[in-house]
Amino acid sequence: MNQNELIQTAKALVAPNKGILAADESTGTIEKRFKSIGLSNVEENRRAYRDLLFTTKGFGDFISGVILYDETIKQKSLAGTPFPEVLAKAGSIPGIKVDTGAVALPNSPEEKRTQGLDGLRERLVEYKKLGARFAKWRAVITIGEKLPTRHCVVDNAHQLAIYAALCQEQGIVPIVEPEVLMDWSNSIERCYEVTEETLCEVFTALCDHGVLLEGMLLKPNMVIAGKTCPKQNTAKEVAEWTVKCFNRTVPAAVPGIVFLSGGQTSPQATANLNAMNAMGAHPWQLSFSYGRALQDEALKAWKGDAKNVAAGQKAFITRAKLNGAARNGKYSEAMEKELVGV
Ligand code: 13P
Repeated sequence: MNQNELIQTAKALVAPNKGILAADESTGTIEKRFKSIGLSNVEENRRAYRDLLFTTKGFGDFISGVILYDETIKQKSLAGTPFPEVLAKAGSIPGIKVDTGAVALPNSPEEKRTQGLDGLRERLVEYKKLGARFAKWRAVITIGEKLPTRHCVVDNAHQLAIYAALCQEQGIVPIVEPEVLMDWSNSIERCYEVTEETLCEVFTALCDHGVLLEGMLLKPNMVIAGKTCPKQNTAKEVAEWTVKCFNRTVPAAVPGIVFLSGGQTSPQATANLNAMNAMGAHPWQLSFSYGRALQDEALKAWKGDAKNVAAGQKAFITRAKLNGAARNGKYSEAMEKELVGV
């Protein structure tokens, strides 16, 4: 393991003013996104969409790295350049999603376990040759009446740790993503309890497997009420619950925490991150690794039409810039109004 390489890459991914773009939607997931704009899910459309994002002028000023899907890391831009090369030239580090998706957990089918460890060592060698310097593995924890079960939390934490150790063996920075879903009616307090339990289990497993904490990043959910909970919280409340949870569970040796957006709107995800950074200095960088919250507006502006590429790119760079400001607690509603106009 080249510790120096891992530490440098992890630090670069959470550099000041910057965060990560998650553009690693599987072919099944991108279908849902394309459906929202009435676009068919064929390879040429997927390539054109990723081309729009990755050729946006100046996006490297705010996007330190991009997580790609297996198809995309092997694809070329419309101008014929391999996508990892396009990203590197724009000053953004190529990354790769390496899990192969979540399936029903035995004995608790409403819950999920993530697959993809078989053959992972060999795939990591291949991805490194293709230019990937970091990776992502997403585990899913579902909140429900009697959920999560203990075996769901333990099993997913264990797999995340083996994945992280395999990545570091190849000089690839692992992004460890235990996502506690925000899809139910639970309160913020319940999300706090489940997130705390999950992170305790994840860091115990990471330490058991000898993972270098300085050479990894954590990609968690924010501590937030479920979507259908009648009581929703202010950005300040979300920030306070979230930071309290991480102060109790995430070692200071971890260089950065890069949030997923999980179904929050784009302005909400920006405002919540901003509120955390406005609280002052933390032991780790608090940044973003958003999928939907960075892409929704761009997708809507593009609508799958080549005539709208410039509009899609403008929407993307604007949201990236707003999140760049949220990295320093410098985002405001006035900025949102001025740049987005709502
Ligand atoms: P969202 O920000 O849309 O939740 O996606 C982030 C991600 O990479 C989920 O694995």
